[in-house]
Amino acid sequence: MAVRGGFSSKLGFVAAAAGSAVGLGNIWQFPYVAGQNGGAAFLLVYVGWIFLIGLPIMIGEIAVGRNTAANPYGAYNKLGGKSWALVGLFGIICGVMILSFYNVVAGWAFGYFVHLSFGGLLKETDFAGYFYNYTADYSDNLIYSIAFMIITAFIVYRGVQKGIEGTSKILMPTLFGILILIIIYGLTLPNAMDGVSFYLLPDFSLINGATIYSALGQAFFSLSLGMGALITYGSYISKSDNIVNSATLVTVADTMVAFLAGLMIFPLVFSQGQSPSEGPGLVFIALLGVFQTMPPLVAKLVGGGFFLLLCFAALTSTISLLEVPVAFLVDEKKWSRKKAVAVMASLIFIIGLPSMLSYGASDLFTNFTFYEGKTKNFMDIVQDVFFVVSLPLGGFLLSVFIARHWKTKNMSDEIAQGYSSYRGSLLEKYFNTMITVICPIVLGIMFVLTLLQKFFG
Ligand code: PHE
Repeated sequence: MAVRGGFSSKLGFVAAAAGSAVGLGNIWQFPYVAGQNGGAAFLLVYVGWIFLIGLPIMIGEIAVGRNTAANPYGAYNKLGGKSWALVGLFGIICGVMILSFYNVVAGWAFGYFVHLSFGGLLKETDFAGYFYNYTADYSDNLIYSIAFMIITAFIVYRGVQKGIEGTSKILMPTLFGILILIIIYGLTLPNAMDGVSFYLLPDFSLINGATIYSALGQAFFSLSLGMGALITYGSYISKSDNIVNSATLVTVADTMVAFLAGLMIFPLVFSQGQSPSEGPGLVFIALLGVFQTMPPLVAKLVGGGFFLLLCFAALTSTISLLEVPVAFLVDEKKWSRKKAVAVMASLIFIIGLPSMLSYGASDLFTNFTFYEGKTKNFMDIVQDVFFVVSLPLGGFLLSVFIARHWKTKNMSDEIAQGYSSYRGSLLEKYFNTMITVICPIVLGIMFVLTLLQKFFG
């Protein structure tokens, strides 16, 4: 095999994998999905899924990736043959579909950054109206999402080490910093505490089927699990890395950012008398009203800084999403990296166009279908099908694959290479039980229930 790129250090892998995990899923999506599903009740269920199911699945994915040094299709193919390889292929398709809508939202963030920093966005009076007009008029979004895809493509083209690692290392800590700053400011505003209680004091009566499966889908999405992104990144790490430590670090960092994003948004939402169940516009609407209360120059700095960092967080995720199909084409179809990047980025951009037209620009895609008691647009469907349902399914298949086919003994051997005391430890027993018993059963049941609730409820 041609020499594959690799991460230069352990920190490089953790930074890149955390970069993949932390993104729009944490800052844009987590608060609005939590807001629609009961706030604190959702947070509780979410954190449970993350550590109970997410962490073992993440360790499994990284182990499979490092063992095979291949893309998801190649990895399943090497260890399990042609029929298992279809699971890898399915993951790659999910990644393609996820990137198609993700890039549209990244384009919104990019557009907001430019209009806030260099235009008159902060002079608006109705930010909800602005958001709806902005997303309905796709002309601007077209430009920014093309730009976003080109930047992603360029970094992926430059390759794993140069392109991916460097970007993540500096930006993650900066993102943390700006979140904390806005949280502190938000907590000083009137009625902020109502937001804090909505977010931190669970009302258990709000936990229902929808909370549970939305939280599971959100957990998989946020940790970048279930579609092979971490098989791909795992294929680039060295044998001396401690997979358990790295995965734990990534999981904790990702959860912290989602948690902080909620702690930032809800006080702002309540202090401005908005509704926490606003939906996809939540971050774009709630934050602007607050930036507006700051002196103009400070507002441009903090507001511009926020949206710029949101773009960077999104970028380290789009990179990992594009890397998956590219690695597949380079490894399996022997395409040049350049051709794979160019073809895939263009294709995914085109697949994303209906999502871009889902917010009012086209009636067809805006009122695409109806289920779960509400009208759904095209982007909602892509999200429902390709992550709420498919990512936990991908996790289910991975756990069954390890349990029945690859065997936990091989997983342990792989992990032990960078973690000498792993064999025979309590931790090994714990993760093996999770992968062979708990994950398959729980995720299998959840898959059926989610399908029933969502589409046949
Ligand atoms: N985890 C990313 C986010 O939270 C999205 C993502 C999903 C990236 C799946 C890669 C794979 O924004």
